Amino acid sequence: MALGEFKKQMPNLALVLTSYPNHHLQEHELDTSGLADIPFGRGLMKEFGLKQDLIFLNHGSYGTVPNRVLRLQHEYNVEREEHPDLFYRLSAKQYVDKAKQEIASFINAKVENVMLISNATTGFNCLVKNYPFKSGDAILDTSISYGSVMNLTYDFTRRLRPDVERIHLEISLPIKDEDEIVAKYEEILTKHPNIKVALLDHITSPSSIVMPIAKLVKVCHSKGVLVFVDGAHSIGQLPLDMEALQADAFTSNLHKWCYAPRGSAFIWFAEQHRNWIHPPNTSWQLMHSLDMQFFDQGTRDHVSLICGRHGLQFYNALGGMEGVVGYTSKLAQDAHSMLCEKLGLERLDIPAAMEAPNMKMIKFPQFPNYPVTEENVWALHKALFGDSNIFGIIAPVQAFFYIRISVQVYNEMEDFVKLADILKTFLDKYTKE
Ligand SMILES: Cc1ncc(COP(=O)(O)O)c(C=O)c1O
Repeated sequence: MALGEFKKQMPNLALVLTSYPNHHLQEHELDTSGLADIPFGRGLMKEFGLKQDLIFLNHGSYGTVPNRVLRLQHEYNVEREEHPDLFYRLSAKQYVDKAKQEIASFINAKVENVMLISNATTGFNCLVKNYPFKSGDAILDTSISYGSVMNLTYDFTRRLRPDVERIHLEISLPIKDEDEIVAKYEEILTKHPNIKVALLDHITSPSSIVMPIAKLVKVCHSKGVLVFVDGAHSIGQLPLDMEALQADAFTSNLHKWCYAPRGSAFIWFAEQHRNWIHPPNTSWQLMHSLDMQFFDQGTRDHVSLICGRHGLQFYNALGGMEGVVGYTSKLAQDAHSMLCEKLGLERLDIPAAMEAPNMKMIKFPQFPNYPVTEENVWALHKALFGDSNIFGIIAPVQAFFYIRISVQVYNEMEDFVKLADILKTFLDKYTKE
């Protein structure tokens, strides 16, 4: 059916109003008073909802939201409940636009190329499932891609597009330098000229490796391969400049390192890809701009998207990247060295320059009672942390368990000294059994 014909079938029910009598957009801004005066470390714990006696060393998985941002999130929720129609049909779009503008400028992107979405998972699903692959094309992931991304490429090529091949690049430890990674990509792209899209990690998880994405974008483009970057951990941890990087698409979570409520992420795409990008759901705005289509995903909670901007305000009030990552990366380095030296443990075998600023890996010896299997991941957590007020994340990487420490502004060296004590007791007991 032709578009004009189809449009005639559609009821004219505009979701978004531009004005309404006596409606005024409310001013919501983060209260940053006194924030810059609180020293980094334990003193900042009171700014977060974490149990105050918890030594939380896993900010990387889900983030944690500052109380000031939570209060604003609550304010928006209250405003929405006061008049749901006016919130959904009028205010929400304007608040989302404001957030989008600030996020775009933080990553040096044109606002029209940025869409707000719930999480990196949604971002990568949108990209992979909408790209117009031709039969016989291939998509490239790696052995250190995020697990759910590997599921996506597997499911996509098995169930949705069995005519598209999944090619999997093995990246194993040790990694000598960035050039070794670049050479691996050169090799696989030459060997498989049907690769059309490479999914690159910016910071791998859980292995916490910073991949040389600027160099990889160049290699991929020189072979005519598009690059979609999984930057789930990037924003807030590494400087981002979309205009300079010139990837094809990039997604990142503000709910990890930018203090936003969960459900706050963006997808960026280069302008030439506008025609094939679609939002996760087809909804009311099908005939309208991509911006409107991403905004109107049915009755949804926009507040976490809106609050992405307030997470950034909190980040900036703490001193922005220089202040925040200046503190966290130094503490992460010092804590990492202290733990490895004190416990006689090894780090991930990669160059220091490729370690994520805020996340470091420490390799466990083999525990006879806990062979390295998926089932033992949580058994080990319980045995190690179950009776303590400390929590870090343990993950298997290439046949060894590692503990990944995440460092946030509420952590201080004392937290890692306590971790060292717990680890020492555990290692003494369990490596000998
Ligand atoms: C590298 C990487 N990609 C994707 C994701 C998925 O992020 P989300 O669960 O917010 O969608 C994560 C989450 O930790 C990640 O670390």
